[in-house]
Amino acid sequence: MADIEKTFIMIKPDAVRDRKTGLIIDRIERSGLTIEKMEKCELDEELVKVHYAHLADKPFFADLVGFMTSGPVVKMVVSGLSAVGKMRTLMGATDPQVAAPGTIRGDFAVDVNANIIHGSDSLENAAIEIERFFG
Ligand code: RTP
Ligand code: MG
Repeated sequence: MADIEKTFIMIKPDAVRDRKTGLIIDRIERSGLTIEKMEKCELDEELVKVHYAHLADKPFFADLVGFMTSGPVVKMVVSGLSAVGKMRTLMGATDPQVAAPGTIRGDFAVDVNANIIHGSDSLENAAIEIERFFG
């Protein structure tokens, strides 16, 4: 039996700007998952740098930080059976060019640098990210 999990989800600035928040929320709720918490906010550069610290040595890091601070995001805690993996499946691959049709990134994004949604990649990171953004 799968466990009830909590994961951290964030609708990125491109999607908020393009009024795709509702579409994405619809995908999450239709999948049977539950939005436990949700808040629109702007992110500090320091918080984004901590959140993406594993990518600090990548050539696109400065652009990633600039993008994530370019406008409001909608941050969420989402719960349900196998919520961490289920959200990663619903989101699709990091690069929207290869994300499968039917996934959020596959259907609503085109650019790896602006891929409209973040989701925790493990149960351990989900707990860390929920504390980081809602603690
Ligand atoms: P996220 O953390 O945003 O949910 O994305 P992810 O797990 O699917 O991918 P991750 O490896 O954690 O990368 C974080 C974000 O960095 C940007 N990225 N660009 N140009 C590139 O090759 C590249 N690779 C990663 C993406 O915006 C990705 O969401
Ligand atoms: Mg990631």
